[in-house]
Amino acid sequence: MEIKVVPLAKEELKPKYESEENLGFGQIFTDRMLVSHYHEGWSDPIIQKYEPLVLDPAAICLQYGQSIFEGQKAYLSRSGSINLFRPNKNVERFKASAARMVMPSIDDNIYFEGLKELLRLEKDWIPSSIGSSLYIRPTMLGIDGRLGVQPSKKFLFYIILSPSGSFFPEGFKPVKIYVSDFWIRAAPGGTGFAKTGGNYGASLLVGEEATKKGCDQVLWLDAIHKKYVEEVGAMNIFFIIDDVIYTAPLQSGTILAGVTRESLIYMAKDLGYKVNEEALSIERIINCIKNKTLTECFGSGTAASIAPVGALTYKTEEYVIDNFEIGPISQTLYDKLIGIQYGLISDPYNWIVTIN
Ligand SMILES: Cc1ncc(COP(=O)(O)O)c(C=O)c1O
Repeated sequence: MEIKVVPLAKEELKPKYESEENLGFGQIFTDRMLVSHYHEGWSDPIIQKYEPLVLDPAAICLQYGQSIFEGQKAYLSRSGSINLFRPNKNVERFKASAARMVMPSIDDNIYFEGLKELLRLEKDWIPSSIGSSLYIRPTMLGIDGRLGVQPSKKFLFYIILSPSGSFFPEGFKPVKIYVSDFWIRAAPGGTGFAKTGGNYGASLLVGEEATKKGCDQVLWLDAIHKKYVEEVGAMNIFFIIDDVIYTAPLQSGTILAGVTRESLIYMAKDLGYKVNEEALSIERIINCIKNKTLTECFGSGTAASIAPVGALTYKTEEYVIDNFEIGPISQTLYDKLIGIQYGLISDPYNWIVTIN
């Protein structure tokens, strides 16, 4: 495989952001993107100027949602190298999403070698402060221009990069979560485990409801009983009750298998905590908040890393968790995760892939 790099003229380069403080999340993009096309096989990737796509208005991705994506980050380590966190997990999940959406499996070389080369070229865009990073968005679209619900034969794979600060404007501070007791995200047999656009499109309405109620994200309950807690809009969720860490199991196929989730479970067990992958009912959670046996709650995801949850709004009530403070287990796991990602502490699990 050859990676073709289209040179950019000086005037084609964008002005860099002025300060890392107000980057926000996913708002600006770097100068270049990686592109590869599929038709009976993948074309050699090209790294070219970041620019709008030209798509047939009847493209299957636009009409019927045949689209998948990933979310991962490049961190600038203290030694100046580029750190990726368990990137093989993202490729694995991208392939699982592709299989669910009848899309071709990405070639590992295009994804990995292409991403590495793109990152080398765009290294100057990686913010250096802790909590900031270069968000990576690999995407695949079915691009045949044809009406009628059927899978595309031609696909576009691309990777774009976005220098980003904290996912939540408040940073590492407790957020408020709205429990959706009517609308659902994913049902067994659906596409919940895949990172496909439709899952997120379907969540927009409830996201608006949550915002109106002063909440930052939605907590989804299971589709059948509307009883068991599954995950948050862009995060998996953990509860600590009587010093045991709980998170929803993945077997139902309705929850995204978060890379952060899996890493935190591993780290927590390694630190000696008991972790139960168990479906908890919302009633039990509310009762445990009331009787103060539920001491901590946090969301986990690449974008937010760990987001402590300070309150849950369920039906008409707001239930405050641990006086809206950051609990010790959340803080310990956050420090360890961030420490590994930014190369501040050693990486005992060999999770970091360094690009020089
Ligand atoms: C629905 C959903 N759940 C969980 C996660 C967390 O996954 P990860 O830790 O791999 O970022 C995400 C983020 O991508 C998500 O969109």
